[in-house]
Amino acid sequence: MATTQIKICLGSSCFSRGNNANLEVIKQYLQDNKLEAAVAFSGHLCEEKCSRGPVVSINGHVYEEVNKSRLYKILQEELPC
Ligand code: FES
Repeated sequence: MATTQIKICLGSSCFSRGNNANLEVIKQYLQDNKLEAAVAFSGHLCEEKCSRGPVVSINGHVYEEVNKSRLYKILQEELPC
């Protein structure tokens, strides 16, 4: 059963400003680390935080202005090994 939850904003602002790439980074990271079964990964629509996007949430922690290099660090900190 998945114990970790990742939610990524797929609203047009977040998506065009970085979550299009972040989406692929997360999918690849889960695949490379064989975490697909342990992590529930889903998208959501705009949550009115566009000016601070791209927005990614992991286990209820909301990360704003997430770029690719920051995302790697966040994934390493938040996800089970
Ligand atoms: S598009 Fe992501 S918060 Fe608005």
